[in-house]
Amino acid sequence: MLEELGKLHQEALSELSDANDEDTIRDLEVKYLGKKGALTALMKGMGKVAPELRPQVGQKANEVRSAVRERIDARRAELEALEIQRLLDDPHFDATLPALKPKAGSLHPVTLITEHIEDVFRAMGFYLLDYPEVETEEYNFEGLNIPATHPARDMQDTFWLNDGNLLRTHTSPGQVRAMAEYAPPFRAIFPGRVFRYESTDASHEHTFHQVEGLMIEKEISVANLIASMKTLISEVLERDVTIRLRPGYFPFVEPGFELDIQCQVCQGKGCSVCKQSGWLELLPCGIVHPNVLRFGGLDPEVWSGWAFGLGLSRLVMMKYQIEDIRHLMAGDIRFISQFRKG
Ligand code: DAH
Repeated sequence: MLEELGKLHQEALSELSDANDEDTIRDLEVKYLGKKGALTALMKGMGKVAPELRPQVGQKANEVRSAVRERIDARRAELEALEIQRLLDDPHFDATLPALKPKAGSLHPVTLITEHIEDVFRAMGFYLLDYPEVETEEYNFEGLNIPATHPARDMQDTFWLNDGNLLRTHTSPGQVRAMAEYAPPFRAIFPGRVFRYESTDASHEHTFHQVEGLMIEKEISVANLIASMKTLISEVLERDVTIRLRPGYFPFVEPGFELDIQCQVCQGKGCSVCKQSGWLELLPCGIVHPNVLRFGGLDPEVWSGWAFGLGLSRLVMMKYQIEDIRHLMAGDIRFISQFRKG
């Protein structure tokens, strides 16, 4: 047995000296030291060794194991040193060149703006909620006071699914979901993707992003709505802006408004961006319609609320001077990698 151990030791050493690459070394490691390797196989014969010789054989086996292990590690180090030397000897290898920079990721501009808006509203005590992109007809339309026969259904062309559900055409269904889910009073925003069955051009996209906001209180006024919207806009655009309200029709609010901001490009003087009007349409909003409160399980005699639906695409395009909305969903890394935080 001792003799066999010695032989195995010699064999391992000589094979290792001939090993010239990592694969061969790994194979030899398995062959000699592995669980099913030669050394283990040999030790299975220990039972046949005379008891008084066993300690000696055991000790020898341990010596062989560590000697082979050491030789393997040494051979690896030798090969590595050779490889470095080979590189240094290569006349084309320049050790003084700076290392390649790892590519840093960047966030999509819509993500950047969404995160900013989330921060602003979280600081004002709003919940941040997330609702499904696949909606029921009930939540997307009925619950928002848009019955099947209502002409407003045509305002939003819809992707219908085979099972009768649909891709939400706006984030407004979250209003009803939130009312059903949380005890009033509460305030919440729910950002997300929305979908419209539309042909696309530089200012239309079938998939885009909105942030919906909802505040439910005992007594809410239009003055309160305007004040909140003003804070929202100056926080998001990081400057004080002049706003104006126009009446706007949406079945789920009464009264409903279109909130415009003074054009940030020409400061209201009139330019091509604002089509010479001096104003940009930014944010539809209004006082929640009693039917919607009722659908959400709230008593309109007791509770009232305001809501807004902020389109993020226009905001992003204004902030980063992007001329074509289709860039936003195209997934082109050359576009996205231009946006870095800070
Ligand atoms: N959901 C509407 C849309 O996508 C936008 C909207 C208008 C949302 C008025 C609101 C609102 O919350 O009060 O066209």
